[in-house]
Amino acid sequence: MSLLELADVSRSFGGNRAVDRVSFDMSDRVLAVVGPNGAGKTTLLNLIAGQLRPSRGSIRFRGREISRLAPWRIVGLGMVKTYQIVRPFRSLTVEENLSLFARLRGKAEVGEILQETGLREVRGQLAGALPFGLLKRLELAKGLASRPELLLLDEPIGGLSREEAQGLVGTLEALKSHGVGMVVVEHRLSEILPIVDRVVALDQGRLIFHGTREGFFEDPSVRAAYLGGRDAGG
Ligand SMILES: Nc1ncnc2c1ncn2[C@@H]1O[C@H](COP(=O)(O)OP(=O)(O)O)[C@@H](O)[C@H]1O
Ligand SMILES: [Mg+2]
Repeated sequence: MSLLELADVSRSFGGNRAVDRVSFDMSDRVLAVVGPNGAGKTTLLNLIAGQLRPSRGSIRFRGREISRLAPWRIVGLGMVKTYQIVRPFRSLTVEENLSLFARLRGKAEVGEILQETGLREVRGQLAGALPFGLLKRLELAKGLASRPELLLLDEPIGGLSREEAQGLVGTLEALKSHGVGMVVVEHRLSEILPIVDRVVALDQGRLIFHGTREGFFEDPSVRAAYLGGRDAGG
């Protein structure tokens, strides 16, 4: 059974089809979603997470239709989305932020998650004083609080230095090896590529490619749409 299965999913805003009849099956562990600005990547993630309703189509998570479920129900089923913009409680420590969140979400062992996300050393620091790179890690840690089976990551390395990005990709790689699935929207494809199994490419809301990362770089329509610039995405 596929972890995630989209069939003919569309979402319009006014007359603008942000996501246009997108279908794909996710059977591998890590799927990258790429495309230029405005391609519909964030809208697609929000549809999958239940934060937006599709205008049409079906979304299944582990075989179960979820497109009409409330976001918190979807979290309960084992799928969690992290945010591009990080907003912790600034006057609480890293550990307090995480404990608070873990209590809301349920299961996980806070110490374990601090370890997994490389936050153990800074657990006593105020979240408001953390550098951006560690804030992104805290966002990931919050996402892990309910021990999800599938993480939806919107630009997890956006705004990070090359070095910070490498570190975070290492963390994601470790999570992957522990069985966590991921749908990753990311402009900086080349930097997350080591953990990616399959790529979905969107252009103006439409799926123009779904396949392996090797196939991605060889596909003529992908080349035409994205690879004119220096990296996939833009
Ligand atoms: N809440 C919204 N209301 C109206 N239009 C939106 C909304 N969210 C996204 N759009 C439009 O949908 C299209 C896709 O946007 P988005 O999913 O944010 O693209 P991406 O994340 O790939 O940059 C864009 O044309 C954007 O202007
Ligand atoms: Mg976006």
